Amino acid sequence: MTTSSAPGKIILFGEHAVVYGHPALAVPVMQVQAQVEVEAGSRPGIWLEAKQIGLQAELASLGPDNPLAAMVRGVLALQAVTSPPSLFIRISSSIPIASGLGSGTAVSVALARALSQHLGSPLNDDEVSRLAYEVEKFHHGRPSGIDNTVITFARPVFFVRGEPIEVLHPADTFTLVIADTGLPAPTREAVGDVRRLWEADKRRWERHFELIGELARQARQVIEKGDWHDLGVLMERNHSLLQELTVSCPALDALAEAARRSGALGAKLSGGGRGGNMIALVEEANAPAIAEALRKAGAVHTLITRVGV
Ligand code: PMV
Repeated sequence: MTTSSAPGKIILFGEHAVVYGHPALAVPVMQVQAQVEVEAGSRPGIWLEAKQIGLQAELASLGPDNPLAAMVRGVLALQAVTSPPSLFIRISSSIPIASGLGSGTAVSVALARALSQHLGSPLNDDEVSRLAYEVEKFHHGRPSGIDNTVITFARPVFFVRGEPIEVLHPADTFTLVIADTGLPAPTREAVGDVRRLWEADKRRWERHFELIGELARQARQVIEKGDWHDLGVLMERNHSLLQELTVSCPALDALAEAARRSGALGAKLSGGGRGGNMIALVEEANAPAIAEALRKAGAVHTLITRVGV
């Protein structure tokens, strides 16, 4: 049997503006993982099982827009496997679905690795990331590529669309509390609405994206220097700019406010918005109390993550 796993992720700075070529920062969330096991099948064909989404199906019965089938076909095509052996592929994940933690992309990455390894020629990280990007187009339409990059390389990244990845080197570890609103994050819809805003007034929104990109550049510097108070201030500014962009929502704003009130250094929404997760920068000792306050304020679950050096 061949097993592979991939972490979740969160975007720290720059979501939405990254689609328009501005920089963004993202970090892996190692405590949650997608896992894929591939083994020889006992019946003909390639069978996929993902109990959490109620899937048990043979590859041929899945259409071209099914992301799991698309990934299996992508790996087989890349490796020029025309008559694959019988296989059983088991998919599981502890990453909450549709909350901006990259669950779909992590499954794609783990699947590409486990399958290619099982077939005898493991794909390298660039190939895995590229395939995951192709599959992500089914969900997103026009993804920036930040999710597949941070999840494949499992390192904090400074990301600019179309450019080689740059790994971030924090001066020290820092702690984030991630709080889930429990509302699904409709990334595709939010990205589409932002595009309509931009099309209606390109000058105004280009300027807005530049401001967000500038915050991401400054955030990289303060992370590499270890100025955590300044980082909190930058998160607050980024959240305000995302509110103006219409991608926050009352539940995200309420969690950000609760985080501030309970002592966070800064808080913002993370990812596509309108639901999904809020992230708060906290002093490590305060993390459990802030997580508790966020659950009282309505978060359906919270995660404490330490971003490493
Ligand atoms: O919702 P998430 O965490 O997958 O993030 C979407 C990030 C956007 O910048 C809004 C879109 C993108 O493709 O980068």
